[in-house]
Amino acid sequence: MPRHFLRDDDLTPGEQAEVLDLTAKFKQQPYGDALAGPKTIAVIFEKNSTRTRFSFEAGISQLGGHAIVVDGRTMQLGREETIGDTARVLSRYTDLVVWRTFGQERIDEFAAAATVPVVNALTDEFHPCQILADLFTIRERKGTLAGLTLTYLGDGANNMAHSLLLGGVTAGMHVRVAAPEGFHPLPHVLDAVAKRAAETGGSATVFTDPHAAVDGADVVTTDAWTSMGQEGDGKDRVTPFLPYQVNTDLLARTGKDTIVLHDLPAHRGMEITDEVIDGPASAVWDEAENRLHAQKALLVWLLQQERR
Ligand code: CP
Ligand code: NVA
Repeated sequence: MPRHFLRDDDLTPGEQAEVLDLTAKFKQQPYGDALAGPKTIAVIFEKNSTRTRFSFEAGISQLGGHAIVVDGRTMQLGREETIGDTARVLSRYTDLVVWRTFGQERIDEFAAAATVPVVNALTDEFHPCQILADLFTIRERKGTLAGLTLTYLGDGANNMAHSLLLGGVTAGMHVRVAAPEGFHPLPHVLDAVAKRAAETGGSATVFTDPHAAVDGADVVTTDAWTSMGQEGDGKDRVTPFLPYQVNTDLLARTGKDTIVLHDLPAHRGMEITDEVIDGPASAVWDEAENRLHAQKALLVWLLQQERR
């Protein structure tokens, strides 16, 4: 059975730490032959992407592998071919498949039929590759993860909120989500988060008050108020979120030497201000760079499990 990375709890706490350690090695030594052969990796997008697309393609080539990067909307998948049939066929050509798609059930179905590892490059529910980079960035800046408090403000029911919760508690962090009523994390995700937190000593708390949520936070982070695919969902995705904007006033309320993350793309003047994203607390550009190193580590680690 191949090892997949479809959501953050697909790695145990120990395995997540191994991937982060390997990330540090690849950051120090970016070029090598860990994917020589070459390992052929399909990287498929059904939604737009800048960072994920470029970091996977660059990372694979830096390690001697070969990436086939495709817009999924041009595949037969976009016509009548089933997800399962696509997975069975791509497993015959490639060593690993990376996929950005819509519902989590789509990538679950793909992975169930695939005979090679499958990596989630973002679904509506989770964005686990981003969280590996976020955790690595926090560890770089703060020297540790377990016991730190991370506050995410914004849409608490989106992929970033869910993955920060699940990946953060896996690392033993205290994760707070501050979101307006109606935008709180999905209950089934909170159940999985509670289970993981019980193993690691981490915790998860949902707030509606943004000021209470940032008090004592070591890390403050946010994301788009409207995620890809939600543009026409009929919800007001501006007014209820205005009190959750990451700005200088909010950041001053942590009372700590806080770092700020944003997965990007940023909507400047909406979920984050220019002053904050371009200011001294921002670790956003390192975070973006770390996508490259973390994904190389993840790919190599997953392919190593295959050989065990
Ligand atoms: N953060 C992130 O996943 O960016 P892209 O959508 O540009 O890949
Ligand atoms: N929540 C955002 C993340 C983009 C990287 C989206 O899904 O559009």
